[in-house]
Parts: sequence; structure tokens; C-alpha cells
Amino acid sequence: MCGIVGYVGGQSAQDVVVAGLKRLEYRGYDSAGVAVLADGGLAAAKKAGKLVNLEKELARRPLPAGRTGIGHTRWATHGAPTDENAHPHLDNAGRVAVVHNGIIENFAALRRELTGRGHALESETDTEVVAHLLAEAFSACGDLAEAMRQVCRRLEGAFTLVAVHADQPGAVVGARRNSPLVVGVGQDEWFLASDVAAFIAHTRSAIELGQDQVVELNREGVTVTGFDGALAEVHAYHVDWDASAAEKGGYASFMLKEIADQPRAVADTLLGRIDGEGSLHLDEVRIPDADLREVDKVVIVACGTAFHAGMIAKYAIEHWTRLPCETELASEFRYRDPILDQRTLVVAISQSGETMDTLMALRHAREQGAKVLAICNTNGSTIPRESDAVLYTHAGPEVAVASTKAFLTQLVACYLVALYLGQLRGTKWGDEIRTVVRQLSAVPGEVERVLETMEPVRELARSLAHHDTVLFLGRHVGYPVALEGALKLKELAYMHAEGFAAGELKHGPIALVEKGLPVVVIAPSPRGRSVLHDKIVSNIQEIRARGARTIVVAEEGDQAVVPYADHLITVPATPTLLQPLVATVPLQVFACELATARGNEVDQPRNLAKSVTVE
Ligand code: F6R
Repeated sequence: MCGIVGYVGGQSAQDVVVAGLKRLEYRGYDSAGVAVLADGGLAAAKKAGKLVNLEKELARRPLPAGRTGIGHTRWATHGAPTDENAHPHLDNAGRVAVVHNGIIENFAALRRELTGRGHALESETDTEVVAHLLAEAFSACGDLAEAMRQVCRRLEGAFTLVAVHADQPGAVVGARRNSPLVVGVGQDEWFLASDVAAFIAHTRSAIELGQDQVVELNREGVTVTGFDGALAEVHAYHVDWDASAAEKGGYASFMLKEIADQPRAVADTLLGRIDGEGSLHLDEVRIPDADLREVDKVVIVACGTAFHAGMIAKYAIEHWTRLPCETELASEFRYRDPILDQRTLVVAISQSGETMDTLMALRHAREQGAKVLAICNTNGSTIPRESDAVLYTHAGPEVAVASTKAFLTQLVACYLVALYLGQLRGTKWGDEIRTVVRQLSAVPGEVERVLETMEPVRELARSLAHHDTVLFLGRHVGYPVALEGALKLKELAYMHAEGFAAGELKHGPIALVEKGLPVVVIAPSPRGRSVLHDKIVSNIQEIRARGARTIVVAEEGDQAVVPYADHLITVPATPTLLQPLVATVPLQVFACELATARGNEVDQPRNLAKSVTVE
């Protein structure tokens, strides 16, 4: 939440910062602002609304040319999205400017203290206190990094702060506690950003910042210390995302681009992890095999779409490993006093690697002695860094707020973990495991095939644009797919959409069914577990008898559903447990098209932000 950029170098700071903010706008789009150091002073501009409003303001009144600057795109927490509450915030003398992501929990007490000393605070934000505290500390010590350390020691909560001071030109100082911040190191230029997307057009060399660290960028380079002032060791890494991945590349939206990118994303996530014999090699999972063999329970923690991937993983893990597995909403996990010990493997799934609920859940798990394996898409982010091991997905940057390709790659990673644990434990499903491992290699092609047949789905979505409600039903792994289909529709089309386990229908939800109500049903494969298939065919008949307009997602060749499907969407045959990899894709396309038909902006749905860094 909130995107932050800082720059020191030879280019126009305003241009570099605004271009970086554009790439971070998915993190929040309530307001935006920029500040540059120039001509011995500090100049700032900020505007409520999307970044384009700030750009218009800067075109009308450009800031003076400066080579050091900071910027912010906001997802509002304290105070409405107004010009006053937009960042950067300045002290009363207008010498220091600060941008912030997170929540400063003790800001009310700090504000009282500052007003008591004669400071005039103008906004309703928690951030503004930092500008005033920094100004005070700087006038006493004359060094912005030291001032930042002193101020951070007084702050409670989670925060990333980036600041400049007119009396220390050529320097940008950042601080991080529990919220993301990375350093980009270019040729005689340096960047600070909430994520690497902001600077990959300039450099792919990055430095991770740890918890409670302060970083100073200036013409001499990068210095990192703890809040206590002790020099910290830095960990540099290479960003393997390429700059074009953060461009729309001819698509009308990032979401359409990311849906289309799924065959590549799935293939890259499998790459190098499966050999020709049908065996898995997850060498990067640095938990010794002996420890993994000792695991007696798996707990998955995640939020939103990643949670749905975790729900599907539970079916796969229990089936292939015979280990008990629970999937928990990360936001609920630590509050219910879960039973964990050294033999529990906790799997934390997160695209961004920064989701605060998931981070807190994994910290709690580690405190109880559990081993934590992260499944993550973002190199250098906090969740993998704080886990015992990480299995990276290779979706590439996901810019649209609604998750699509990250979900499919999270599923692939979950299957890999389940199959790997099964392989290690030598369960009775050994042959099946080897077969499924081979079948995974066919998934990119199958997803491609689904994408080629989406025109009728788009047409159907457009025809439903005037509806208020859509229900989704599924059984077994089709149930989380139904939840995911409903979530996509809620967040993009702002419609009432709900997913149910089809077996639960008769226990209440069937009362919602009325004439003409669109109900999407995910039908399991008629092969193998045919009992499940028979049951869903009965469920389709039950809702159709009550007037529902049935939209059935079924395996190619599934004749049994044909008489009861008002609209049939077919997907390639896959092993039962892998079906979500193909069945989810039409639901993503459906939600995207329906939202567009309703005039919504799919990349930046209202009220949402990617990377939820507050609890
Ligand atoms: C929905 C969506 C969110 C995220 C959730 C977790 O489309 O994107 O529900 O899945 O906020 O985010 P990560 O995976 O970054 O932890």
C-alpha cells in the first residue's frame, strides 16, 4: 500500500520520480505528490486523485530543475484523499519533506507533543508528525540520517519513510520497519522505492533493506545502518524482471496482459524443477529433506486470492502426502492460538511478499518453532527473507491489482510442494505422483488453448453487465475456484458475487436462486471421481429447476452437463487436482470483461491497493 520513490543522480528528479510513481500506482491511487531539492530550497506539488492529476499540475507549474527528489502515491489510511493529506508532508519552514507508507500508531501523542511546542500541523495524517520531528532533530544534529534514526526510535507501528532536507542537498534518506523499501543502484544514480518496478527501467542492481534500518543515498553511494546507528551488512541482488514486464505492451490493461501471460508464467515456474524421469528437484528449498520427512502437519497461511491457492493446496497435500493440512486466513491465524511445533511446516503464500497479515502469521509460526516455507513472487521481499526457505514463483511483475498470473503460479508452486513432499515421504501414490509431475509440463499449452477460446466468454460477460448478482458453485477443488471467480467479480465489477460449495446449496444459499440469476458452476472431471461429477450434475439441475441461468465450466467432452447448461465453457481435461489451473482462466476473463462493460477501470479497482502492508 502506498508507493514511494526517492532519487539521487544526474537526471531530472521530477521526471524520474513521476515515471517511478507511474509504475507503482497500483499500490494506491488516492493522491500523489513529489518534492525536489533545487536552488538551495525544496519545492513540492501534490494532488488528490490519480497520478494524472499531479502530472497535469506539474505541466501547468513545473517544479524547479533538481537532481534529488522523492514522490508518493497514496492509499489513504489516516485522513481523506485530499490535496492537504497527500504526501509529501513538509515542516513549517518548508525545509524537510517526507513520504510514508504504513501506520504510525502513536501519532496522536506525538502530534499533541508537537503542537504543545508550537508546531502548526495542517493535515489529518499520521505522517505529518514525522516531518516536524525530523526538522527538530535535524536542527539539533545537522545530519538527516541521524535525525531519521532518532525519530524512528520514537515511532510505533509499521512504516517506510523517505525524506529530503534542503540543508543537505544531494541526499535522500529512507527508513524501514515492517513495510517494504528497496535500493536501486545505477551508474552514478541511486533509487529508493517500495518495489523494484519503480526503477527497473534504469537499473537491475538492487539492495535489500532489513528491518529497522536507515539508508542514506548520496553522490558517494549507499550507507545502511540500524536504528541504533551501527553499520549494517547489505545484501545486493540482481533483479531478473525485465523493464518491458512493467509496460502494457499493446494491451488495453495490465490485467489483460497478465491473463495472456499465464502460459509463460506457468512454464517459467516449472522450469528446472522437473526432470525427464518425472522427478522433482526443489534445490532452493533449504529445509533439509530429513526435516521435511519429520513433518507431521502442514499449515498454509495466506490472504485473498493467495488463500484460495492455499485452499486448493490442502487437497493436493493431503492426497499426495497423507499429512494433515489446514489452510488458514493469515489475518485470523495468530489470534486463535494455533497448535504448532518443530514438526509443523507452515507454508506462507504471497505474491508481493509484503502482506502484513501473512508476515505476522509467519512470525508467530516461527516463534512457536514451526518451519516456514514461503511461496512468493517478489525477490528480496520481506516474507521470503523471514522464512526458513522460499520457493519463488516466476510470474514476473503483476501490476494489475487483481491477481491472475500470480494465482496460477502459486497453484503450480503449491502442487510442486505437495508432490515433492509426497516424493520424499514415499507415499503409496508414487506412480501417480510421477505421472502428475509429467502432466504438469502440459499445463502451459492447456492454458494457452483456454485463452484461444475465450470470445464466447467475453460475449456472455457483456450480456450480463446489467445484473446485480452472480453466484459461483463448485465441489472439491472446484470450490476454491468458485470463491476465486466470485472474488474477481466483486473486486473488478463491484457486483454481489458469492462462491459456495455446491453441497452447501441446500443448507441455505439455494434461497437466493430466482428466475434469471446467473450461476457459474465448476464441474469436476467426469473421469475418475465420477461420484463428485454426478453430484454436481444434480446441483445444476436443482438450480435450473428454480430458474437460474446456468453457466457451466466443464471438461471437454463432458456430455452429462450439456442438457443443463445454458452456457457451456469447456476446458481441457487435466488430472482432477490440477483442474483449477485451467478452470480459473475463463473466470478471470469473465470478470475482466464484465467489469469493462460496466465502465470500470480493471487495473485499479476502487478502494483497493496491491500489496496490503497494514493489518
Ligand atoms: C485479489 C488479490 C488479493 C491478494 C491478497 C494477498 O485479486 O490480489 O486478494 O491475493 O491481498 O496478496 P499477496 O499475495 O501479495 O500476499
